[in-house]
Amino acid sequence: MGGIVVSTRELPEPSLSTLSLDFDLRVLGYAPSELELAAEVVEADALISLVSDPVTATVLRSGTKLKIVAQYAVGVDNIDRAVAAQRGILVTHTPNVLTDATADLTLALLLALTRRVIEGDQMVRSGRFAGWAPELLLGTELKGKVLGIAGPGRIGRAVARRAKAFGMQVIAFGRSPRDDGDPDDPTRVSFDELLHRADVISIHLPLNDETRHLFGAETLAKMKPGSLLINTARGAIVDETALIRALDSGPVAGAGLDVFEFEPAITPGLLDENRVVLMPHAGSATVETRREMARMVVEDVRRVLSGEKPLRPAPPLSSRGPT
Ligand code: GLV
Repeated sequence: MGGIVVSTRELPEPSLSTLSLDFDLRVLGYAPSELELAAEVVEADALISLVSDPVTATVLRSGTKLKIVAQYAVGVDNIDRAVAAQRGILVTHTPNVLTDATADLTLALLLALTRRVIEGDQMVRSGRFAGWAPELLLGTELKGKVLGIAGPGRIGRAVARRAKAFGMQVIAFGRSPRDDGDPDDPTRVSFDELLHRADVISIHLPLNDETRHLFGAETLAKMKPGSLLINTARGAIVDETALIRALDSGPVAGAGLDVFEFEPAITPGLLDENRVVLMPHAGSATVETRREMARMVVEDVRRVLSGEKPLRPAPPLSSRGPT
């Protein structure tokens, strides 16, 4: 074995430290720009990347010895996979392990919106809680409401299971075929029907040319009056300027966002909206999940640098569009 492994950040241990026994491990410890990353990978055999790292054509061409880009995430839209494929560089990711954590956060955002948890917390902290009152902080119930899943892949279906436990009716748009043996796998509907019928739409799609700004002025305008939008997938699937307009003048009544179009920058109007709940891209952020993601990444780097096949190659480029 041997070789140079560049990781842009430290990961939860035990993970990178196990690689340093057999490889020359270089941890950058900062968020590199495209050019900085291109310079850092010149000698690297493997790169361990985060969703926020620009693994562009320039970076991949600069890493003339690169054999693997191991992404510490399930989504790989920050990696130019076409160029990686041309150059024979394997791209791996961390599917499955973060499904439940991300689905849990989706429900947390939904409940925070419907039961006004952030407003309640602020009220109590600021001393404005003057005692129990019949109409204090009334929210809405989930039971009987329609949840529309955009992208019924692994995470979308995990959200559907949770929503059914809350008494919601679930429908879905996307090309993942329905599993007839799974009673929790939602009925598929067209995108228009999803927009028209859902009281809440939750996005679980990959970001690609077909899904970028799928939720823009025209589609947001078709959502049900008073409906909610939750996004724990990728920010650029939603046109944030159009979302702010739809929040201000309808039909959208609230949004729960864990991801942002220009991450980590936040479109300014969103910060002035009290009908949104914002989280800092933390869908997979549980101790258990992040530890397992680190183990998976290290395992595939070790395998590829030892001449074995990786266990978790990212899906081929042909599988684009809604899942
Ligand atoms: C996080 O955003 C991921 O894709 O895992």
